[in-house]
Amino acid sequence: MQQINVGIIGFGTVGCGTFEVLTTNREVIANRVGAEVVVKRIADLDLESDRGIQVNRDLLTVDAMDVIDDPEIDVVVELIGGVEKAKEFILMAMEKGKNVVTANKALLAEYGSEIFEASERYGTSLGFEASVGGGIPIINALRRGLAANRIQTMIGILNGTSNYILTKMTKEGLPYVKVVQDAVDLGFAEDPPTLDVDGTDAAHKLAILISIAFGSPVSFNEIYKEGITDLTPDDIRFAGQFGYSIKLLAIARNLGDRLQARIHPAMIPKDHILANVNEAYNAIYLEGDFVGPNLYYGLGAGKRPTGSAVVSDIIELARQTRVGLKGFMPPLAHVRSPDKKILIQPIEELTSAYYCRFSALDSPGVLSKISGVLGDHHISISSVIQKGREVNGSVPIVMLTHEALESNVQKALSLMKGMKILTGKTIMIRVESG
Ligand code: HSE
Repeated sequence: MQQINVGIIGFGTVGCGTFEVLTTNREVIANRVGAEVVVKRIADLDLESDRGIQVNRDLLTVDAMDVIDDPEIDVVVELIGGVEKAKEFILMAMEKGKNVVTANKALLAEYGSEIFEASERYGTSLGFEASVGGGIPIINALRRGLAANRIQTMIGILNGTSNYILTKMTKEGLPYVKVVQDAVDLGFAEDPPTLDVDGTDAAHKLAILISIAFGSPVSFNEIYKEGITDLTPDDIRFAGQFGYSIKLLAIARNLGDRLQARIHPAMIPKDHILANVNEAYNAIYLEGDFVGPNLYYGLGAGKRPTGSAVVSDIIELARQTRVGLKGFMPPLAHVRSPDKKILIQPIEELTSAYYCRFSALDSPGVLSKISGVLGDHHISISSVIQKGREVNGSVPIVMLTHEALESNVQKALSLMKGMKILTGKTIMIRVESG
């Protein structure tokens, strides 16, 4: 049987997961590819740590160039993370005509243009299934299964750490700080999990999904993002009373000439399919013009699911290598026109319903002053909850609005900041109807 050689750069959690999938399922993979897929070299700066798996030490090297320069290696797998070094290794491997697999979402979200262009210029193939949604084959779905469709909507829960934190806050009524500390102590979250909870990780992933769905690289800096750090158990409870759950959503909507692309906590109806995606699970709901709604659900992180995604790319590239194909699938599954630019709608132009929680003095006329400012900005109220008097005389006033223009909501809330009737920060959460 023909042999296809793989070189892995980066032998951390995902590198070990990849090695384990390739060795454990060696036979089934050989049958699916029609060739043996063999790990020929593994590069990592740390060769001493016990990784809990059996590896022939002759495979190991500290020098990534031993992988990139090896003429017998067909597929180079970059799993070191970080941006600069990873980019350098990938570009060098492509220049040498290697097919490349990466799980590096930050790299693709920041330097996607350069990497995708190099892949096409050198006529090599690039797999990056593991960069979004861990084990969920969403990139394969967009590049192949949904290729007949114009994508109209994508709504994702793309960050498992935030989803885990929100699930705990919802189920146990605990404050954000306590849940994060517990998650870090239990090893469920990075210490500190800044890029997860501030929306950056989800923005990286949405940038990649949009680039494939709409056929042009989009920089993650253009994606509006807000994290979950200001959410309180009170907001989650009030949302529940209105019939909603709160999730950190990644949303892309095709507006025809422009695209909505945003990451923020959002209230979604409790019976929405994404409202029941809990713990560290990820899910992506999307709509195509012919296929209609599609839903993808699974583990968004972890050694085994991410290893599964990396190996799915290795298998695909090994199949192409076996029959002598290269550069068969353009990275974004589109023939790109260099001048095609995706225009993103500024968040100020969004029209949405809103949840606002005001901390206000409990005295006559307060409610009418708040609703007066909202009315002056064309914001119509659909429901109000005002609970009884608190010890210090300050009460939460919670409102849901009808659809309003974001810029008007921002102006109204900013104007209210100066009003003496408000005793604390106002919390605003966008409401997604579906
Ligand atoms: N840190 C990510 C998450 C997993 O919490 O979803 C890796 O993409």
